Amino acid sequence: MGPGAALAARWKRNREWTRRFFHEILTPQAWLERPIDLRHPFVFYEGHLAAFAVNTFLRRALGKPGIDPGMETLFERGIDPLDASGVRSSSWPERDRIGAYIRAADEGVAAILESRMPAKAVKALLVILEHEEMHQETLLYMLHRLAYALKREPLGVPPPDAGGRPPSREAVRIPAGRATLGAGAGEVAFGWDNEFPKRTMDVATFEMDVYPVTNASWLDFVDAGGYRDADLWTEDGFRWVTRERVERPAFWTWHGDRWFWRAQFHEIPLPPAWPVFVSHAEASAYARWRGRRLPSEAEYHRAAFGRPASREAAFPWGDEGAGTASGNFGLGHWDPLPVGRFPAGASAWGIEDLVGNGWEWTSTPFAGFPGFRPMPLYPGYSADFFDGRHFVLKGASPATATPLVRRSFRNWFQPHYPFVYAKFRTVDA
Ligand code: AVJ
Ligand code: FE
Repeated sequence: MGPGAALAARWKRNREWTRRFFHEILTPQAWLERPIDLRHPFVFYEGHLAAFAVNTFLRRALGKPGIDPGMETLFERGIDPLDASGVRSSSWPERDRIGAYIRAADEGVAAILESRMPAKAVKALLVILEHEEMHQETLLYMLHRLAYALKREPLGVPPPDAGGRPPSREAVRIPAGRATLGAGAGEVAFGWDNEFPKRTMDVATFEMDVYPVTNASWLDFVDAGGYRDADLWTEDGFRWVTRERVERPAFWTWHGDRWFWRAQFHEIPLPPAWPVFVSHAEASAYARWRGRRLPSEAEYHRAAFGRPASREAAFPWGDEGAGTASGNFGLGHWDPLPVGRFPAGASAWGIEDLVGNGWEWTSTPFAGFPGFRPMPLYPGYSADFFDGRHFVLKGASPATATPLVRRSFRNWFQPHYPFVYAKFRTVDA
């Protein structure tokens, strides 16, 4: 199979996954639901994926005409948690009309994939492939917020695996060294603008947790009154906690006399050994409570990819591609697994779960590396978020597609966004 055929197969797989999501997993009653205020309702994303392919691949890269200018404007953008506001549900087109638009868009893309593609079309194809894969994760964490009656569990994915007791807390010291962030042109088959150019940084010695912080450890924070202790939070963070009455992670729920975890399709007693999924503000407060802090992006790189006596590796476990024995990513599970399940995925320093089982928060505000240039196909993709109000996350979650699992990939969210599959670990202050 040549590269063109492999990309065409990936596109078909993506479209099929998206179709199943909207038509088999999501119930028709849920189509207009908007489970997260800062995001659009589900309807938007079904149209957005098709319109983005038309705008980016057919129109911008190949100079073809669009299919329906109204749809291409309505569904153009909607990812900014700061301004995904406005569009009223009553103004969405009929579902049949959107369905017809999607079919026409898919036919337009499929026709190109059957032909011999010019090089710049391949680049744009990778943009729409990764864009759809990222949105599939967004759709899953939005779906996570819905009542169980509004979604249907598909067959073939293992049920939640709660595991037993968490491993005891351990930390290891990493010697000073260099960390390479991002990638050089030509070093990766594809990267977003924020991954370039490559940046090398010196990292001082530090000590890092071997495992991400678990629900069991988070319970200690809750019981110690962590959510009520203003000294642990930034001013902004405590304002959020107070305003939103935050007193537990968004994935936890309390029934009668004990905690449960709302997994994607099942509510289960709180699994103590799962990594806790929390916002950046919560993670930072916890770290301070322990007298520690979050790692910087460079420290994460040093911990994940650095090696004692040789150049950095592509993955924590070495240079081989991302396989299912390395970590919980690639949609093999709907939910996390107990920490420490993937010793084969440990980094050279013995640190586990760095890639998979939840994105990892860093203390680094999202910004371009020196020499950053916005990508012409989508100039606002990253630059619109260089506002000091978003933080870098690294690694991958259970819902991250395997092609996105690469060293240079950078994710980002606002500090008061508790809905993503994001965990954290601490380093010595
Ligand atoms: C990179 C996941 C933060 O969903 O907000 C999708 C990805 N950008 N469409 C987001 C994205 C445009 C973005 N994240
Ligand atoms: Fe998008």
